[in-house]
Amino acid sequence: MSSPALHSGPRRPADISAAFSSLSSPNQKYVFPHSFAQLKRKIWKDGLLQSWKEVLEELEVTAVRIAERGDSMIPRVTMESIRNGLSAEELSNIRTAGCVVVKGVLPKEALLTWKQDIRDYVAAHPGQVKGARFPSLISNLITYTEHRAGFPTGNVQVFELYNTVSQIRARTHPNVLETHRALLALWHDRSGDVSLDTPISYFDRLRIRIPGDSKFALGPHVDGGSVERWEDPEYRSCFNKILEGGSAWKEYDAYDAAPRAHAKQDLHEASSQCSIFRPWQGWTAMSSTGPGEGTLRVFPSLSIATAYWMLRPFFKPRDPSSTSLKWEDWNELDLDGPAFAGTGLGVGQEFSDATHPHLRLAQTMVSMPHVEPGDQVYWHCDMIHAVEGYHGGKGDASVMYIPAVPLTLENAQYLRDQRNNFLAGLPAPDFPAGPGESTFVGRATAEDVYPGGLGAMGLEKFGVEGNESKLFAEANRILAVA
Ligand SMILES: [Fe+2]
Repeated sequence: MSSPALHSGPRRPADISAAFSSLSSPNQKYVFPHSFAQLKRKIWKDGLLQSWKEVLEELEVTAVRIAERGDSMIPRVTMESIRNGLSAEELSNIRTAGCVVVKGVLPKEALLTWKQDIRDYVAAHPGQVKGARFPSLISNLITYTEHRAGFPTGNVQVFELYNTVSQIRARTHPNVLETHRALLALWHDRSGDVSLDTPISYFDRLRIRIPGDSKFALGPHVDGGSVERWEDPEYRSCFNKILEGGSAWKEYDAYDAAPRAHAKQDLHEASSQCSIFRPWQGWTAMSSTGPGEGTLRVFPSLSIATAYWMLRPFFKPRDPSSTSLKWEDWNELDLDGPAFAGTGLGVGQEFSDATHPHLRLAQTMVSMPHVEPGDQVYWHCDMIHAVEGYHGGKGDASVMYIPAVPLTLENAQYLRDQRNNFLAGLPAPDFPAGPGESTFVGRATAEDVYPGGLGAMGLEKFGVEGNESKLFAEANRILAVA
């Protein structure tokens, strides 16, 4: 097992616009070193031409299906079904879609109370709580939420808060950890380097989006790095079947954890990008919110979309002015240009009609169905997702970002740093540095962690001492460092 150092120090302060290429310089294409053309040629196999043809045909069929079925493509399960064990059909549906809504994970009343507690906490620290700066990806127009402190007078939608009692209670609640175990079990690991039944906590922000907001809008993108998926050999190996040629792409397994455990997702000092293996991104609803009310949108058919955008950099249209999406008009090889569509160095992977027209995003990005406080939404780490540009509802659209993350050695290193930051009231390591909540009255402490969640927070050893697995023993050694 290797254990590369993930974090040598705090992240540089930055806002999320730095993470998306077209936002920082909407009219300027990324300049890639020429070595990236060599990388393309190194990866290229003649059999990929056939793969590309098959993927384009399958993607066209999928797009029609999504347009017809809409949000019925998004599986829904209940906390009760999680507890009783998901059926084979439910598991299959979740794997295929790459996302799921879990109803009733936490009591509705608890979430409403926790949301009010967050509001009270913000109000008790006037001028001290920052709002995350998010740019709008729509039409490449750069707009930002105001970086103004306070609630509710400032136009803050996403708060730079990581250590509220509400977040800690939600992250470590027994039902949440049980849901994480169930969803991580959809993955498999042959390496022994990933403990899929050991969920750990990954601190993230929270959002309280007010009606009428059109500032917090994120266009279609995938997190977890961008060009690194081709550039890093370990990360690239996750997609071996897609890059093998012929019809091998059909055997692509999006739920193989082994190559992901050591993949390097950040080779270019990206800001505001998750640096660890996070199989399921997720959020917990703190409001009653439905389509049109500023919610999440996804492309609800994971593997075909992934196959498409992993193959896309190797091809270009024969006539750039043509709108044809036919394979015969799109089968010119692009092995001399170093660019990877929608990516850059140190930025996220983005999608638009200009860069990825075959996704037919206008008809394939589907909004999450109605959720109630206490429901959760999860989506695969390679899933194309976005946030509705406009919140047209009447109430707030509010979530806590809580992903499902397993224990690995690399993740244990991050957990150690995150735990130490938590105890000091600082932002989590992947997020903009600064004093955070270190001087705040009423921030969470270890006392607020549910007893069953101490391990997930890095506050308790994994396994039975003297009889741990090799992974647990090494993780415990890592976590012992203060
Ligand atoms: Fe995202």
